Amino acid sequence: MFQLNANEPQALAQYLKQRKWLSTPENIKSVSIPGEGNMNYVLRIDTGERTLIVKQSRDYVEKYPHVAAPANRAVIEGIFYQTISTEITVQKLMPALIGLDKQNHILVLEDLGMASDFTFLYHLNKKLNLEETRDLVHYLNKLHQHFQRPKGSRKIANLKMRKLNHEHIFHYPFLGENGFDLDTVQTGLQAVAMKYKKDAMLKKSIAALGKVYLSSGDTLLHGDFYPGSWLKTEQGIKIIDPEFCFYGCKEFDLAVMIAHLYLTNHEESTVESVLNDYSLKTALDMVLLNQFVGVEIMRRLIGLAQLPLKVDLVFRQELLDKAYKFLVK
Ligand SMILES: Nc1ncnc2c1ncn2[C@@H]1O[C@H](COP(=O)(O)OP(=O)(O)OP(=O)(O)O)[C@@H](O)[C@H]1O
Ligand SMILES: [Mg+2]
Repeated sequence: MFQLNANEPQALAQYLKQRKWLSTPENIKSVSIPGEGNMNYVLRIDTGERTLIVKQSRDYVEKYPHVAAPANRAVIEGIFYQTISTEITVQKLMPALIGLDKQNHILVLEDLGMASDFTFLYHLNKKLNLEETRDLVHYLNKLHQHFQRPKGSRKIANLKMRKLNHEHIFHYPFLGENGFDLDTVQTGLQAVAMKYKKDAMLKKSIAALGKVYLSSGDTLLHGDFYPGSWLKTEQGIKIIDPEFCFYGCKEFDLAVMIAHLYLTNHEESTVESVLNDYSLKTALDMVLLNQFVGVEIMRRLIGLAQLPLKVDLVFRQELLDKAYKFLVK
């Protein structure tokens, strides 16, 4: 198996040339890390004339090699990019797929430039403006409208990645003793979380919701539609990293976005405008949507996938309470 390695540019050039993703006269001038990532091995390759992004998935999480993860997730991500490439309105909001090597779990993507993602929102000193909010919903509108498929004709199940996500959204955060001391995130958080971990009504609601997440739906979802997947480029907002994609219920993508608006202290009016701009709103199951919002908020506050949130315990408590009300009626 070919292993991407930033320290072996010659082997990398040879590999890319063999597959015709670099032309014969091209050479690699430099290799760099394009941005913060946890799951995969991602490089930017500069030939002097152009730059490319190369991404490889391995059977573990890149940042935590002792944590296993589905090895072929880059292949599924590649299949997502192939699928959406038929629809220009979606494709122009994502990098073009230049190559997919299913054997070595490598994909080559158009470089969207030195863009930052939107994780700066967690510092709470900047907010999305109206246009940015509209653009993000516009992406979901196009993806969800154009990729609706009846059962039988859907190709992307991505069940292993969904099971991994299921563990971290619906299960692990709500275990009483899971070995993760939340006081290391913020003093007092463990005690606050314990109230929810012991709440039978909440756990019942979340277990049912988890089953919905694992069942299939008719809409192609991005699957991880949060600020880490949104890039602020010179050509406007672009969306990357659909490795958690699957055919599911549209409420999930929208709910993850809304949950992160709450986590980043956006106004209720921003959430309202998201719902207003969402073109399939009449078909939304609002109860389901709110439950997914609630569980995403909770798991980001008391689960393992923590965010660089600059907030105090009171803010976390208030958000957990809001999330609880979305989940338990
Ligand atoms: N096509 C692209 N153009 C420009 N920059 C990119 C592109 N793809 C990825 N990046 C940069 O590389 C970073 C890591 O990429 P990506 O999010 O796909 O990796 P990942 O390992 O799946 O990350 P995570 O652990 O957050 O899921 C991105 O945050 C972004 O800064
Ligand atoms: Mg990723």
